[in-house]
Amino acid sequence: MTRQKIAAGNWKMNKDLNDAVKMVRFLINQDRPKNILTVLGVPFPFLQTCIKETRGSADIIIAAQNCHHKENGAFTGEVSVTMLKSIGVSHVIVGHSERREYFFETDEMVGNKVRILLNHSMIPIFCCGEPLKVRKEGSHGSYVKHQVSKALYSLNEEEIAKVIIAYEPIWAIGTGETASPEQAQEMHHSIRTHLRDKYGKVSDEISILYGGSVNPGNAKELFRQADVDGGLIGGASLQEKGFLSILHSF
Ligand code: PGA
Repeated sequence: MTRQKIAAGNWKMNKDLNDAVKMVRFLINQDRPKNILTVLGVPFPFLQTCIKETRGSADIIIAAQNCHHKENGAFTGEVSVTMLKSIGVSHVIVGHSERREYFFETDEMVGNKVRILLNHSMIPIFCCGEPLKVRKEGSHGSYVKHQVSKALYSLNEEEIAKVIIAYEPIWAIGTGETASPEQAQEMHHSIRTHLRDKYGKVSDEISILYGGSVNPGNAKELFRQADVDGGLIGGASLQEKGFLSILHSF
C-alpha cells in the first residue's frame, strides 16, 4: 500500500436514491484531479446502485458507512461485512463518533469491525477524535492515541498498512467550527508518531484524513499540512459543486 490522497464524502442519513445517482453521475462526468481517490460513503440502500454507476471510474469508490461487529447471527436489522462484500463494497467507515455516541459503540466493537473487514480483504476507514471537554482539558493527544491503540494495535504490520484513519474532533463535526490547520497537523503528526513507535516505517504509508466541517473555503489549507492526506467530509459532501471544489483543493 502507498499513502494516498483521499477525499471521502460521508453522506450520513441524507439523500434519496434519485439524489444519490444524480450526485454520482455528476462526479463521474467532471474533470477530477489525477491521483486523488474519491470515496463516497453512501447509505446502505444505495450501495449497489452507486457501485454499478461507478463501474469504469477506478478513482471513485463507494463505501458503506457502517457494518456489524460480528460475522453473522441473530442481529435483526443489522448489516454484516460479508453482505457488503457480496455486493461489491470494498471500503467501510467504522467508529464514526455518531455511531459511538448514539449507538453506544465501544473501542472493542470498532476493533472487531476492523478485524473482520481486514479478514475479508476490505478496507476500514477508522474514525477517531476527542469531544470538546477532552480538548479543553488538553488531554486530546492521549485520548486519541488510546482510541487508536484499542481498536488497531492487534493488527500486524501488513494489516495496519491497509487501514485509512480519519481524525475527526467531535467538536468540529457539523458545527461549522473547524480545527485549525495547525491543530489538525499536530494531531495527525501525533497519530503517525504513535503508529511509528509501534509499527516503524509502515506508518508513513498510512493515509490520515481530517474530518470536521471541511468545506471548499478551508480544504486547501488543511490538505497542505504534511500529515493531512485528505478529508472525511460530511455536510459539504452533499453539494455537487462544493464537493467537486474540495476535490480540487489538493
Ligand atoms: P462534517 O462531518 O463535515 O459535516 O462536519 C464530518 C463527518 O462527520 O464525517
